[in-house]
Amino acid sequence: MTQPLKIAIILSSTREGRFADKALAWFEPIARAQEGWEVEVLDLREAALPFFDEPVPPAAKAPADPAAQAWGARLKGFDGFIVLTAEYNHSITAALKNAFDHAFEGWAKKPIGAVGYGGVGAARAVEHLRLIAINFGMVPVAAAVAIAGADFRALAKGDKSFADLPYLDGSAKALIADMEWWGRATKAARG
Ligand SMILES: Cc1cc2nc3c(=O)[nH]c(=O)nc-3n(C[C@H](O)[C@H](O)[C@H](O)COP(=O)(O)O)c2cc1C
Repeated sequence: MTQPLKIAIILSSTREGRFADKALAWFEPIARAQEGWEVEVLDLREAALPFFDEPVPPAAKAPADPAAQAWGARLKGFDGFIVLTAEYNHSITAALKNAFDHAFEGWAKKPIGAVGYGGVGAARAVEHLRLIAINFGMVPVAAAVAIAGADFRALAKGDKSFADLPYLDGSAKALIADMEWWGRATKAARG
């Protein structure tokens, strides 16, 4: 029997009133409906990582901080990551960069995808995310969801719901298809 693919959805915004929760409420059921996937949500709020100040990079030595150790151990259980990506000043959130910096092994040789949202669907943040992911030996997948412009603003204000924007379901399915392919390929290669 085929093994399940364990996929984490990461909420990369931690602020009160975050749009991330709306994006999660829409995307999580779509991801959970994917046959053969076991989906878990990783909320950076709950990870409660300190601002990175380890004496040695996690690529060389496991972090001393208990929250960072728990975070790194948690990542190791997943076969891929889909990040709900907010764009802060044309990049990913500081909380997400901090979460990358706090671990190494758990990210490596796995695919990463993005559901981006913001003025331009977090396109600039998603490109930064891909470049950062390469440093961990991850596979940034080609497909991404971009919740952008007037649609993003209408969703944020509550003037529209995701049901009004069925093209986003198509984008989500394309992202999931890429994650499935690379998730299976890298899982097999990791053995
Ligand atoms: C510190 C900060 C910087 C931002 N910079 C950008 C930006 O560069 N581009 C953009 O499209 N939106 C930007 N925004 C607006 C965000 O897209 C919007 O606030 C979005 O809801 C953030 O995601 P969140 O609510 O899940 O935190 C910024 C918001 C914050 C709080």
